[in-house]
Parts: sequence; structure tokens; C-alpha cells
Amino acid sequence: MVTLSLIVAMAENNCIGMDNKMPWHISEDLKRFKALTMGHPVIMGRNTFESVLGYLNKPLPGRENIVISRSGYTPPENINVPVFASPEEAIDYALRRTNKEVFIIGGAQIYKKTLDKADTIHLTQVHKAVDGDAFFPDLNIDEWTETTREDHLDHDPPYSFITLKKRVIPAKAGI
Ligand SMILES: NC(=O)c1ccc[n+]([C@@H]2O[C@H](COP(=O)([O-])OP(=O)(O)OC[C@H]3O[C@@H](n4cnc5c(N)ncnc54)[C@H](OP(=O)(O)O)[C@@H]3O)[C@@H](O)[C@H]2O)c1
Repeated sequence: MVTLSLIVAMAENNCIGMDNKMPWHISEDLKRFKALTMGHPVIMGRNTFESVLGYLNKPLPGRENIVISRSGYTPPENINVPVFASPEEAIDYALRRTNKEVFIIGGAQIYKKTLDKADTIHLTQVHKAVDGDAFFPDLNIDEWTETTREDHLDHDPPYSFITLKKRVIPAKAGI
């Protein structure tokens, strides 16, 4: 079965972005993002895709970039990526492109629309509150089990890599 994962770096106050950029620089987080997502389809909102283009001048390499836009966004001429009008269509497409893992990589609007569909969250918890204009939705922690944690508390800002798996609710499991 294909896993549908969200991957996000989030401050204590749920902040994930400022002016369409990440509000911190944690190089180990970028390395982890690359290691986890490499070779897998990555789904993102149009703003996040434009932020990627702003940094790299191209889509994220080695991963099929899949963009969500309701306004009919057309990528620049030399950039060839599929664009879907809803998160559901993008997820259906991505799930047919792999038998392993699909990653939803943001931003705020897309996390909000897809949080209830995900099996796994690869979370980088940044242990401070940060000013910003993009926020992750509130997580109902009762719905998630922490399966791995790696603390990096000597870093400025301190952070932890955490894996959260959706709890299987007995009624849903047919028990
Ligand atoms: N910390 C992290 O891990 C992380 C990860 C990713 C992004 N970010 C940050 O998050 C911020 C960007 O988030 P954002 O919320 O502004 O933008 P976003 O979610 O990346 O993209 C929003 C766009 O997606 C499209 N969209 C949203 N909902 C839709 C729906 N239901 N159906 C169809 N299209 C839909 C719309 O595109 P159209 O306007 O074209 O219709 C909308 O303008 C930036 O600051 C970025 O740096 C942080």
C-alpha cells in the first residue's frame, strides 16, 4: 500500500513560513527533506512551487513535482510539471505514480486540505515561536502516535525530527 505523508517543519506556534520563504535555516532539515523525498512524487500548492522556483530556478530534482492550483496556473515555458485543480486530483494522480510513498510538502493551504488524508507526518519541530504569515493547522495529538524522535537541542534554534503515524481507530479498522 502506498503511504501518503505530510512533511513539514513547524515552530512552536505552528508557524511554517514568512513572505513565501522558510523562516529559519536548518541545513540538517533540508538534508532530511531531500533524503526522505528523493525519488518520490511531491505534491505542493502553487505558492510553494513558486518558492521552489525562486530558490532553484527549476522543480525539486529527482522527484516528480505535482502542483495544485485552482486558478489554472501555467508554469514557465521550460518547466514541465503536472498541475491539478484540487488536492484530491493531485493525490489520485500521485498515488498511481508509485507503490511506495507520496509526499505532500506544503504550504499552509495544502496542509490544511490534506491533513485528514495523511497516514504519516514527518515533522521537524522547531522549539521556538517564530513570526510568520503561514501556519500549519492544529494537530489533534490524540489521532497520532509518535514512532521516532531525534532531538537536536544544542542547535540554534533547537529542533527535533519526529515521525507521527495516524492511530488506527478500531471502528475504522472494522473491529
Ligand atoms: N515549513 C515548511 O515545512 C513549509 C513547507 C512548504 C511551504 N512552507 C511555507 O508555506 C508558505 C506557502 O503556503 P501558502 O498557504 O501561502 O501556499 P500553498 O499552500 O503553497 O499554495 C496555495 C495555492 O495553492 C492553490 N490551492 C490551495 N488550495 C486549493 C484547493 N483546495 N484547490 C485548488 N487549488 C488550491 C491555490 O493556487 P492558485 O492561487 O494558483 O489557485 C493557492 O493560492 C510559504 O511561506 C512557504 O515557505 C513551509
